[in-house]
Amino acid sequence: MEREIYVPQGGPPQGPPPSKEIFIKLGENKIRELVKLFYDEIETSSIRSMFPESLEESIPKSADFMVQILGGPPYYVQKYGPPRMRMRHIPFIIDEKARRAWLGCYKKALEKSNIPEPENKMIWDFLVDFSSWMVNTKE
Ligand code: HEM
Repeated sequence: MEREIYVPQGGPPQGPPPSKEIFIKLGENKIRELVKLFYDEIETSSIRSMFPESLEESIPKSADFMVQILGGPPYYVQKYGPPRMRMRHIPFIIDEKARRAWLGCYKKALEKSNIPEPENKMIWDFLVDFSSWMVNTKE
């Protein structure tokens, strides 16, 4: 049977992108550390099997995206082209449950990071919003 792609009702996130101040305030290393903490959580999560066996390439790639979206240099677009994140996630079956597990990994990573407020919450709010647009399968 052909897979049915679910399109979230709200469409792409409508809000403004995260403030570029986040990058200025935190710097590149803290953002890369956060992504590493996130993938540490992925290792023991319920969605581990969706990811490649080795996360060695996933970590710097995702970090390039996070640095870019939080206001840093456009590493991701330079190396991999236009983000088109929803399209890039279509190969993976992402329902609300998978989204919650994914967000749970970021929640723990943000807690373990020493990213201060208000940046910590700003990143969280962005991820909650943006991740809803990655959902492509009905639960
Ligand atoms: C909603 C839950 C999500 C799930 C279950 C999920 C899962 C995945 C998986 C399985 C991959 C491929 C493996 C890899 O390259 O590491 C991937 C790639 C990626 N994800 Fe997600 N993801 C989600 C949401 C997001 C969000 C909200 C962002 C951005 C803030 C994001 C950013 C990325 C990036 C940058 C890549 C690499 C894309 C590429 O260039 O191939 N993901 N994701």
